[in-house]
Amino acid sequence: MTTIDTTTTTDDDVTASATPVLQARGLVKTFGRVVGLDGVDLELYRGEVLAIIGDNGAGKSTLIKCLTGAEIPDEGEILLDGERVHFKRPQDARAAGIETVYQTLAVAPSLDIASNLFLGREVRRKGFLGSVLRMTDRAGMRERARRELRDLGISTLQDVTVPVENLSGGQRQAVAVARAAAFGSKVVVLDEPTAALGVRESGQVLELVRTLRDNGVPVIIISHNMPHVFEIADRIHVQRLGRRAATITPRSHSMTEAVAIMTGAAEA
Ligand SMILES: Nc1ncnc2c1ncn2[C@@H]1O[C@H](COP(=O)(O)OP(=O)(O)OP(=O)(O)O)[C@@H](O)[C@H]1O
Ligand SMILES: [Mg+2]
Repeated sequence: MTTIDTTTTTDDDVTASATPVLQARGLVKTFGRVVGLDGVDLELYRGEVLAIIGDNGAGKSTLIKCLTGAEIPDEGEILLDGERVHFKRPQDARAAGIETVYQTLAVAPSLDIASNLFLGREVRRKGFLGSVLRMTDRAGMRERARRELRDLGISTLQDVTVPVENLSGGQRQAVAVARAAAFGSKVVVLDEPTAALGVRESGQVLELVRTLRDNGVPVIIISHNMPHVFEIADRIHVQRLGRRAATITPRSHSMTEAVAIMTGAAEA
């Protein structure tokens, strides 16, 4: 294996001459006098898990919020399958096939697990009842929710009729991840999905990420957990002070080297 230039990880076959599924160019986002993003580029390719690492405040969440419609960048452009997109709200990105689990979880606590899975895309009953009376197909959604959770290997959620407010933090996280995995047709984005999870649940989320990738859905995952990152990522975007400091891979760099780039102790 050759030595890899950290700024252009061109040895990877997924990145060779392909159009990124999702791409950012020169994103800038300021909050008053605070610079959240200072001209960030990012590429996500088909068939890969891209991890984003960086210190607190490096701009990781702001970056994915801009990519998924939760924030609107001041400058720069976002391309989905090579076409420029202008997401104004998260629903726009969802409609385009990008599902996101944000760091601050968006679940509806008073609704049950099945309803949370179908939030915003409720299944109507067949015929007149659904099309005219707008009645939802609760039984159908519960059945599909059970199936999705089983297929995703999430065993921590036994009963899909339990309100989400009765779940533990980690179980809520699992609901949000399951929703993203079930509906992310093009891209799934996870901001710290394992931060609140126990060992077994973390393992299930990582397995889920792998399954998604293997089914052709590329995943962006933000994590502070270096062993998780090095276990799951095909490539690693290192975010530092609002910019991309480097793009590396678990083969090109050690965890220690990654952390050194992240903290500025080493140049990329
Ligand atoms: N809504 C906001 N208003 C003001 N400042 C913000 C806002 N969102 C983010 N920032 C600032 O932008 C910078 C980047 O924040 P961001 O949340 O993207 O960091 P992060 O890399 O996700 O950090 P962490 O690892 O702690 O989650 C920080 O300085 C933060 O204070
Ligand atoms: Mg964050």
